[in-house]
Amino acid sequence: MEEKFYITTPLYYVNSSPHIGHSYTNIACDTLARFKRAKLGKTNVWFLTGTDEHGQKIKKAADAKNLSPQDFTDEIVPLFKELWQKLGISYDDFIRTTEARHKNTVAKALTILKEKGDIFMAQYEGWYCVPCESFWTQTQAGSAICPDCQRPIEKITESNYFFSLSKYQGWLIDYIEAHPDFIRPLIRRNEVLSFLKLNSLTDLCISRPKERLNWGIAFPFSSEHVVYVWFDALLNYISAVGEFNKDGVFQSRWWPADLHIIGKDILRQHAVYWPIMLKALDIPMPSCVFAHGWWMLGENKMSKSRGNVVNPLEMVEKYGIDAYRYFLLRDVPFGMDGNFSEDALIKRFNSDLANDLGNLVYRSLTMTEKYFASVVPNIDIFVRKFDEAGESIKNKIKSLPQDVEKFLTPAEDFNFGASLEETWKLIAMANKYVEETKPWNLSKEGKLEELSAFIRLLIEVVRAVSKELLPFMPVTASAIIEQAGQDIIKKGSPLFPRLEIPGATPKKNAR
Ligand code: MSP
Repeated sequence: MEEKFYITTPLYYVNSSPHIGHSYTNIACDTLARFKRAKLGKTNVWFLTGTDEHGQKIKKAADAKNLSPQDFTDEIVPLFKELWQKLGISYDDFIRTTEARHKNTVAKALTILKEKGDIFMAQYEGWYCVPCESFWTQTQAGSAICPDCQRPIEKITESNYFFSLSKYQGWLIDYIEAHPDFIRPLIRRNEVLSFLKLNSLTDLCISRPKERLNWGIAFPFSSEHVVYVWFDALLNYISAVGEFNKDGVFQSRWWPADLHIIGKDILRQHAVYWPIMLKALDIPMPSCVFAHGWWMLGENKMSKSRGNVVNPLEMVEKYGIDAYRYFLLRDVPFGMDGNFSEDALIKRFNSDLANDLGNLVYRSLTMTEKYFASVVPNIDIFVRKFDEAGESIKNKIKSLPQDVEKFLTPAEDFNFGASLEETWKLIAMANKYVEETKPWNLSKEGKLEELSAFIRLLIEVVRAVSKELLPFMPVTASAIIEQAGQDIIKKGSPLFPRLEIPGATPKKNAR
């Protein structure tokens, strides 16, 4: 069978418009999807994103706007789609948890689990946090304050359905231990393992009485309950790509997922609940759950409830899609927290994009134009012998695809920054080579053959760089290919004109 790649983002809550944190996950997933499409072929990659539309949070947000939850979500979903389009997010499918295909799969999964005896009914008494939709134990609840959001919590007693997490705890520990790449990065894997080893899992309450909350998927075997939003939402990863057959076997061209990228705040759900749900349903495990860090503003996580969000559309408007994508992927190692600042973005823009990349492309094309009337010299650089610096550039061109790919694996924690650095190494080598070779002297001295070879080498660098940048910076890379990809070059204006610090608006060229 041909190798395939199925990648997913979390489903975003539609109680507010998307901010930088949300865009981060989608940009990372998009980069990997584009990368894999180039490698495996378009038809072997599936990139899923979507929206999480049930539960208390959404109901409250809808109430506040005097809309039905369905009308409310119908209004918000286009905002997400519009942002993804502006950021060049090339998803193959967008699932909404309010769609019939999803609801049917959830109902079917519940029926199967009930028949297997993994779902049972019991009385629940507990401390409940409405905004977090989480129950807390007596110890966790402490003085009736939510340990997560620090808001007051309430004590509730009710009849509910439970899913037997506890039964699978031993299995999950063994599974994680046997599969080092299942949860990445390592710090998150260790966190989950020590949580599992130090605590006894309590069974998960997966229903909500309709009288408390009616905005959710109906329970197939109870008219009084709806499904807990997390239990519903996690199932999107299968409901979007397949179906249970009449024997209850899940069938899909894409499953198991190769990669679930999530933020570290939703690790427990993805690394504990989800694998156990799959195991209980007899469905194979995803290959990797990767939890990235948070974008912070100063000391705090950027979040709608804290009111400290930066609007990605504004950043794209000011700096262009690709500078924004580049900054997020390059500035902070994937998996770690990062501080968002426009100053840092502008610095990266000026040094890496204007001085390094933009300069290399512009000067290479300018020289081709000046010395060869825009016709790329027809020389096989891999046959011709260059000086030491030229030879190492040739070698770097050859090894670049592997150098870039090497970091885009679970074992390397999808280190986008390190991948980009490899490309920037070649850019730096080529810029240095221009300064050392002084092509203007070659021209003056009439060393035409040397000059031709030199220019061809530069054009090959530009082409290699643009090819590797396609998944990361699709607009810029396409613009470079457009300008330098053919025998006759078509020089445009500089790709990244330097920005004044602070906050000046750049000219919008091909970005
Ligand atoms: N609906 C759930 C996920 C269900 S997945 C089956 C949810 N939604 S969310 O909209 O609140 O968050 C979605 C993702 O955005 C999470 O992965 C979360 O970590 C990420 N981010 C939210 N704020 C973030 C930052 N400030 N920085 C980076 N990512 C953050 O949770």
